[in-house]
Amino acid sequence: MAVDLLLGLQWGDEGKGKIVDVLTKKYDIIARFQGGPNAGHTLIFNGNKHVLHTIPSGIFHKTALNIVGNGVVIDPVIFKKELENLDKNNIDYEKKLLISRKAHLILPTHRLLDAASETSKGKAKIGSTLKGIGPTYMDKTGRNGIRVGDLELDDWKEKYQALTQKHLKILDYFNIQISYDLKELEVEFYKGIEKLKSLQFIDSEDYLNTAIKENKTILAEGAQGSLLDIDFGTYPFVTSSNTTAAGACTGLGVAPNKIGNVYGIFKAYTTRVGSGPFPTELFDKNGETMARVGHEFGATTGRPRRCGWLDLVALKYAVQVNGVTQLMMMKGDVLSGFDTLKVCTSYKYKGKEVTHLPYNIEPENITPIYSEFKGWEADLTEMTTEEELPKNLLDYIDFIEKETGVPITIVSVGPDRKQTIIR
Ligand code: GDP
Ligand code: IMO
Ligand code: MG
Repeated sequence: MAVDLLLGLQWGDEGKGKIVDVLTKKYDIIARFQGGPNAGHTLIFNGNKHVLHTIPSGIFHKTALNIVGNGVVIDPVIFKKELENLDKNNIDYEKKLLISRKAHLILPTHRLLDAASETSKGKAKIGSTLKGIGPTYMDKTGRNGIRVGDLELDDWKEKYQALTQKHLKILDYFNIQISYDLKELEVEFYKGIEKLKSLQFIDSEDYLNTAIKENKTILAEGAQGSLLDIDFGTYPFVTSSNTTAAGACTGLGVAPNKIGNVYGIFKAYTTRVGSGPFPTELFDKNGETMARVGHEFGATTGRPRRCGWLDLVALKYAVQVNGVTQLMMMKGDVLSGFDTLKVCTSYKYKGKEVTHLPYNIEPENITPIYSEFKGWEADLTEMTTEEELPKNLLDYIDFIEKETGVPITIVSVGPDRKQTIIR
């Protein structure tokens, strides 16, 4: 089948960028299908670290084409910075980075609206990355958005002005003090637009479907994670796009019967950045150790990530919603040195034991029920084959495979491209 999907099964930051980079050599095209610069995808190879926000994670390879799909929202200011980073690394992207005309643009006022909306929520704030994601998708579904293809038309600046004026009125409604200089923001915005216009715009759905007919191999790259999906995540503490498998169909214009493998990426434990329920969250030394050893700070905002045990109830839910065919387990190395590991296998929900993810997983309703596993001491980071992995880790892997019914085909033992064990 022509299009494989790669997506996160938890609350984001599972290590999607690393695995896309590892798998790119097998694909002709890498296509991002949703989200925007709220994402931060980290790639490490040859001793260098790169963080991508909008650009697909196949960009560092010579041969693959990289497409920013229609489901993505692009901030021209951040996009320009990403391109400048590629320039610094002598990556020749002009011919291998293509942008969908149907992708929507994040305007400076979308970012302001995001900030105003978050401030107005007080303690109930989502913990947004404040990149303007919510307001941009609202304009998309409200049929007011500006798309990349509009930049080829004469009247796009009028459209821009009209939408910006409307946004300023909405900002007034919020009646919240936010200091900004719109003129300054617009200077950066227009510079970003010019840079964006130097790239090739395409009708990406046509491009991809033609590629499928020509038997090209395509990997669709997701952003965020299944528990941040607008429909299936922990609403309202979610992002504003469909991060799950169906989002790849709408975000690229690829039909469901063209989807092949669905690679589900998960951490051997769980992290979350931003607000919202997290049943297995730890507030003890174990959580601190995960955060410290795993360097759990957001790649986009630098915020500390909340850490906790692996939640199999939530993982099985994500496997189901996405139709995952292969699991890839990240950051097993971070768990070396724990005496005992816990995995949540069911919840006590309103006094009853349940094995599915209920509607409301706020802490007052949920107590996780755990199975315990023996930890391992060995440092995994130099290991290159499955045979070297400690038995207790293999038991941990075995348990997850049995519970989910899906094979774990990659075990990642460090952030570098090379620290990847393929099973
Ligand atoms: P993404 O958003 O899913 O691409 O993930 P991020 O890049 O936001 O976060 C994953 C973090 O974990 C990054 O800092 C990676 O360099 C790092 N990482 C990825 N895989 C591994 C691994 O197997 N072990 C360790 N220790 N770090 C990893
Ligand atoms: P990657 O692709 C982790 C979280 C934010 C917040 C919520 C809504 O790197 O895995 P938004 O900016 O979309 O309004 O924020 O979603 N969030 C992420 N958390 N990884 C991400 O992306 C995220 N993108 C958004 O922290 O809780
Ligand atoms: Mg990330």
